[in-house]
Amino acid sequence: MKKVIPIEDRRTAGRVAAPPFVGGELADTRGRAMHDLRISVTDRCNFRCVYCMPREAFGADHPFLPYSAILSFEEITRLARIFVELGVGKIRLTGGEPLVRRDLQRLVAMLAPLGAELTLTTNGSLLAKQARALKQAGLDRVTVSLDSLDDATFRAMNDADFPVAKVIEAIDVAAAEGLTPVKVNMVVKRGVNDEHIVRMAERWRGTGHIVRFIEYMDVGSTNAWRMDDVIPSAEVVQRISARWPLEPIGANYAGEVAERWRYADGSGEIGVISSVTQAFCSTCTRMRLSTEGSLFTCLFAQSGHDLKALLRGGATDEEITNEIAAVWQRRADRYSEIRTGETAKLRKVEMSYIGG
Ligand code: GTP
Ligand code: 5AD
Ligand code: SF4
Ligand code: SF4
Repeated sequence: MKKVIPIEDRRTAGRVAAPPFVGGELADTRGRAMHDLRISVTDRCNFRCVYCMPREAFGADHPFLPYSAILSFEEITRLARIFVELGVGKIRLTGGEPLVRRDLQRLVAMLAPLGAELTLTTNGSLLAKQARALKQAGLDRVTVSLDSLDDATFRAMNDADFPVAKVIEAIDVAAAEGLTPVKVNMVVKRGVNDEHIVRMAERWRGTGHIVRFIEYMDVGSTNAWRMDDVIPSAEVVQRISARWPLEPIGANYAGEVAERWRYADGSGEIGVISSVTQAFCSTCTRMRLSTEGSLFTCLFAQSGHDLKALLRGGATDEEITNEIAAVWQRRADRYSEIRTGETAKLRKVEMSYIGG
């Protein structure tokens, strides 16, 4: 990872609040380093998942961002380079649905030389067609959302009548192209798809793909989240373990969101993501860049920090670097640790805007 010499200079020059560094890395007020950058490349999506973009709130008249408001690939790449210089080692492209942004492989090709791990979270609907070009452009791997293997349930959850078979085909194509390990994300909502947890585990056992079960979260303010809708990850693990015993395994890297479990019979692993019942804010190393160039230091933030004005106002790289460093250094977020029924009602930014 590149060292941040210019920032060290600024620290000694007293322009950045102390203590900015932990072991030579940029750190926030809770000592957390900035390692991951999640870039939302569009606020649009061709699905209307009930937990993310409910059709009542994201109808035909929804005001999505106009083209002039969204960052160009050149602008994104310039920022990404600065982030990598500040210590970011992993970049994840998200949305909305990132593959609805035209020529996304061109952005991938521009980001790949920066040297960070490059990944993408997608609903899979457009992946089969694009997987080869994305791989050739330098994408390392993909995470595909799939909430049920039951066609009627899945079509109802994505509310776009999109079939399971096409997502599975996309997963197969992505794996064949080497975008591996493929991760499959299932958001679990009580009474909607929780009956399909074991079937989902069974489908990916022994394939080399890693399914992750995600606790339904109160992101945004349109999905009418209720604690009663959440199936705690402990219950997910119990249900799967009752059929095929699971044992816990260590994280792949510090601050990994998913908790890993492996099948005792050697058929691979699963993950659980427990933002609601077991908050992981204390190790949260993620910065988020919205489609229109706002920086968010938390998935549950109520507002962001505008970088686009700097970009389009002629700021130098040094000025932008200073701004990003200052935003991270002021960061104190720990939403999932302090979540209550009341915080869930706050007007938070939507997941489709900020990126998952
Ligand atoms: P890898 O470990 O690199 O595969 O990625 P990841 O687990 O960080 O990425 P992914 O985008 O697949 O994250 C999975 C899901 O975890 C997201 O879609 C969110 O639902 C949730 N998630 C990711 N990051 C955060 C976070 O910072 N806070 C909270 N509360 N949830 C998160
Ligand atoms: N709760 C949990 N995860 C969510 N996602 C979107 N909305 C929610 C929510 N309310 C995640 C899913 C999906 C990714 C794009 O965003 O993991 O796979
Ligand atoms: Fe689209 Fe993903 Fe949100 Fe579903 S979860 S509506 S696929 S952005
Ligand atoms: Fe990070 Fe905010 Fe999620 Fe906590 S709630 S893990 S601070 S993004």
